[in-house]
Amino acid sequence: MSRANPSPLPAPAVRLAPSILSADFARLGDEVRAIEAAGADFVHFDVMDNHYVPNLTIGPLVCEAIRPHVQIPIDVHLMVEPVDALIPLFAKAGANCITFHPEASRHVDRTLQLIRSHGCKAGLVFNPATPLAWMDHVMDKLDMVLLMSVNPGFGGQAFIPATLHKLREARHRIDAHIATGGQPIWLEVDGGVKLDNIGQIVQAGADICVAGSAVFGAPDAGGGYHGVMHAMRQAAAAADSTDFQPSSLTSRRTTPCH
Ligand code: DX5
Ligand code: ZN
Repeated sequence: MSRANPSPLPAPAVRLAPSILSADFARLGDEVRAIEAAGADFVHFDVMDNHYVPNLTIGPLVCEAIRPHVQIPIDVHLMVEPVDALIPLFAKAGANCITFHPEASRHVDRTLQLIRSHGCKAGLVFNPATPLAWMDHVMDKLDMVLLMSVNPGFGGQAFIPATLHKLREARHRIDAHIATGGQPIWLEVDGGVKLDNIGQIVQAGADICVAGSAVFGAPDAGGGYHGVMHAMRQAAAAADSTDFQPSSLTSRRTTPCH
């Protein structure tokens, strides 16, 4: 993977991860190439099993099929239960990051280790009502933390405002971990991210924003995928430059992805 940021320039205010849940599945290769060309930082890949969540989507075969079409990392969000059996399959299929919901794994620490042992970034996903305490005893095994800002299962839902407070709390925990010598941990937000709220989301401490319907539903007249992602980056940068709280700057400046 080659998304290191060797440039001496400051890291961007936010990384964008379009969710292909809202893409045209009949043209998935074209769609992922188009978002990469338009500046996406990750492909967000939503896996739903009709058990952990009431919807059914895509699996390792589809991950393997899109892998040759893009260079950017594939960020696999597992909404499945149980979790572990799918990890080697997704790693083999070319996933770079694998996140899962801790309630869906019998042994959270073991699952995190399993993901890393397959060479992928590992992360926990927190539903709106899931407490952040799940991360307390596994901080050293986290490469990313994903806060759901909607209940998982469907694209196109409205952002839950209480996520902003939870984001600040997660940012604080991550910054405290780094301040005491811990490894960087990316903070990602997923659900209802739009042009009109991404500023607040980044200001609350997010490093990576998933956006499904906002990106894939972007009208051609507004510049399509490139137009909306460019506007989202500008809104994020404007909000970021007005935020001078040290706690929100620390880990956002870390280099994401190897
Ligand atoms: C929901 C998924 C999200 C979703 C985001 O369970 O995890 O990734 O596709 O879609 P939007 O941005 O439309 O809320
Ligand atoms: Zn997702």
